[in-house]
Amino acid sequence: MNTTPSHRTVLITGASSGIGAALTRACTHRGWTVYAVARRADRLHELFSQDSHVHAITADISTESGCQQVVDALNGATVDILVNNAGRGNYASVEDTSTEQWHSMFAVNVDGPFFLTRALLPHMKQRNSGHIINISSVAGRQGFPLNAAYVAAKHAVVGFTAALRAELIGTGVHATVICPAGVLTEWGGVTEGGSINDLYGAAIPRSRTIANERGLTLAPLSRMMTAEEVAEIILRVIDAGRVNDVFTHEGTLDLAAACVADRIAVEDSHAALWLAMAEVYAEVYGEEHGKK
Ligand SMILES: NC(=O)c1ccc[n+]([C@@H]2O[C@H](COP(=O)([O-])OP(=O)(O)OC[C@H]3O[C@@H](n4cnc5c(N)ncnc54)[C@H](OP(=O)(O)O)[C@@H]3O)[C@@H](O)[C@H]2O)c1
Repeated sequence: MNTTPSHRTVLITGASSGIGAALTRACTHRGWTVYAVARRADRLHELFSQDSHVHAITADISTESGCQQVVDALNGATVDILVNNAGRGNYASVEDTSTEQWHSMFAVNVDGPFFLTRALLPHMKQRNSGHIINISSVAGRQGFPLNAAYVAAKHAVVGFTAALRAELIGTGVHATVICPAGVLTEWGGVTEGGSINDLYGAAIPRSRTIANERGLTLAPLSRMMTAEEVAEIILRVIDAGRVNDVFTHEGTLDLAAACVADRIAVEDSHAALWLAMAEVYAEVYGEEHGKK
């Protein structure tokens, strides 16, 4: 069903799961053409082989050669909208983060978006139209314990997008960063170094005890959203063009502002959860890695 007048061609990375898969479906629902990128060819086939609007591209966007593969597979097709969505988190304290894990967080979350943006931008600027949408996270604005490599990489995505916007002033090309909080996808189960879902699952109940024992307040947890809800927000961003940084979850814009104005207050309000996370990490990580 084509619900909007203008046809668009959208390149979406990380389309084999979660937000990317939901966005691919939402775009083809509008009759748009989607180049859907991911490493798992079987998943892309399973999801989209019946949809003639989708062109699957199997590639690893964490390398320059993988991104070049994506560009080659376009075969000269015009891309109106690039959604740099592919991403992965990690789970390790700073001192336990290996050099490989640090680099791999930047490779997939930052390098890939840069390589693809650099490749597609000249064509967009030539046409004086286009939109680059980078999926960061609230972790691109706020610090969270035990995944510093991911948090640093997502902060880099926010900075990259801000600089890109500044460069694009006066052109018809837009750049937007989207900062979701918890979304019900595979993400939290496939974090490098262990499941961050398991960490939060064990730490949240424990944080209530810590809060009671030490008289700490508990920061409200934002509601988990579905990938489809986030995809709808991204579609609205595409429709709107020039928009501010987007915080998909209620309360997270205020939290991001508080991180600039009063980071100590943010830390204090999260102390019970973060202390609980440290306890769980010391027990579980120590056991799994023979450190106890
Ligand atoms: N879920 C959350 O709570 C949450 C919150 C804030 C921000 N985000 C961000 O939202 C984005 C989408 O995540 P999601 O929640 O939808 O997670 P997801 O369900 O795990 O999907 C991640 C997608 O990225 C792809 N991918 C990972 N590494 C890749 C690589 N090297 N090359 C190409 N594709 C790669 C995966 O496909 P293959 O494995 O097939 O390659 C998959 O399609 C990510 O940038 C994530 O950091 C998620």
